[in-house]
Amino acid sequence: MSERDQNNENEIEKVNDSEVEVEKTKKEDEYEKICFICHRPESTAGKMIDLPNNISVCSDCMQKSFDAMTNGQIDYSKLMNIPGVQIFNMSDLENAVPKQQKIKKRKEGEEKKPLLDINNIPAPHKIKAKLDEYVVGQEYAKKVMSVAVYNHYKRVATDTMDDIEIEKSNMLMIGPTGSGKTYLVKTLARLLDVPLAITDATSLTEAGYIGDDIESVVSKLLAAADNDVEKAEQGIIFIDEIDKIAKKKNTNQRDVSGESVQQGMLKLLEGSEVEVPVGANSKNAMVPLTTVNTRNILFICGGAFPDLENIIKERLTKQAAIGFNADLKDKYDHDKNILGKVTTEDLRNFGMIPEFLGRLPIVFTLQGLDEDMYVKILKEPKNAILKQYQKLLALDEVKLEFDDSALRAIARKAMEKDTGARALRAIIEEFMLDIMYEIPKDDSIGQVTITESYIQGTGGPIITLRGQEPALLEG
Ligand SMILES: Nc1ncnc2c1ncn2[C@@H]1O[C@H](COP(=O)(O)OP(=O)(O)OP(=O)(O)O)[C@@H](O)[C@H]1O
Ligand SMILES: [Mg+2]
Repeated sequence: MSERDQNNENEIEKVNDSEVEVEKTKKEDEYEKICFICHRPESTAGKMIDLPNNISVCSDCMQKSFDAMTNGQIDYSKLMNIPGVQIFNMSDLENAVPKQQKIKKRKEGEEKKPLLDINNIPAPHKIKAKLDEYVVGQEYAKKVMSVAVYNHYKRVATDTMDDIEIEKSNMLMIGPTGSGKTYLVKTLARLLDVPLAITDATSLTEAGYIGDDIESVVSKLLAAADNDVEKAEQGIIFIDEIDKIAKKKNTNQRDVSGESVQQGMLKLLEGSEVEVPVGANSKNAMVPLTTVNTRNILFICGGAFPDLENIIKERLTKQAAIGFNADLKDKYDHDKNILGKVTTEDLRNFGMIPEFLGRLPIVFTLQGLDEDMYVKILKEPKNAILKQYQKLLALDEVKLEFDDSALRAIARKAMEKDTGARALRAIIEEFMLDIMYEIPKDDSIGQVTITESYIQGTGGPIITLRGQEPALLEG
């Protein structure tokens, strides 16, 4: 390479470098500056003084620092000469406030714009059709959610045009473990363009106790919206395991993770201005706070509510035992859809406070899974477990088939475990282990068929060699 080429090359590099710089400052520019000392954003603390290394300090803090310096007893110039004493070095503080704690700026004169155009909102049946591709059964739940999300979009798109304000419809989703609650919301999240945060109620405690502050659920949404407050104010928050914050019975200690959390959540659910920590789980001196209005945020709460069935049963049997139409005592013992008969009274007996329930006007339940649903879950969804194994073996050019009776046997085994669809994966892993281990050994195998007897442990799978008739493998 000649010297000139080398120079040219350097030039190009320089140009690229400066482009990168410009990009970087552009990105930085979209976020508010935050005072290094008091952690207030520029919008509250006033104009910042920029120091080297991306550090900004508000004028109040700057003034206080100067005052402390001039009034103090220490002669700073002498300190320099004492060994072991280090003077505050600015270059150690590069990026002292992490990006995740910065808030997006609101541009001057920019109109508040909804995330979606009212004409492009996906209709409920389209949302449901998408859900159908992944979630088996649970028709009612899918319908309710599609409509609620559609209405949420509409409310966001129209904002409040006139006096008729469309109120949001927060939801409470109840269903046995492993019936698809979390899965339903996760699938929904993939289809949506509005920011969506999925959080857990288990880690929440009243402010000041070990655990996450209640406002941290909004922080997560803010993070999902790139710290853009306006975007976050139109998002959806899913709070899972909501049954874990039920009022604790028979305790005389302060219930910091139960009833207090429900109470703390009231104002969030209803819609109000809340101070939320940015990029952190609790409010403290080191994190900036910002104000988010939760009026347009849709809340979906979900939980398994174990033992709720017994509460419902008790109420129903009590009712049925009185009067002329007295029913048999165990009439509800084998009712599969007893959860569907839930009322607010039952939920209150479970330990949810009335104010909390009042703010979740839409209550719906998911069904427990039956054998047919298990079989469908095995083979029908877009990313069904069977399809995953078939794909794995297809890479070895081996075809994997399942007899229908084998699928039913797996479903029955899963039902015994009573942990919902989660059991399926564990069962399949178990008996596929041998197959995944043995098949790659032998290049001549072209197809494996899983039979019922293999699942029951009384026989083996049918192995077909390439270009041959099926043969039974030694169990
Ligand atoms: N109706 C369904 N259709 C398809 N797959 C399902 C369905 N229900 C459950 N699954 C599968 O089972 C797994 C577990 O379900 P999920 O996590 O939604 O349970 P959950 O209802 O949230 O239970 P928990 O109350 O214990 O949290 C999912 O990852 C999914 O693969
Ligand atoms: Mg769950």
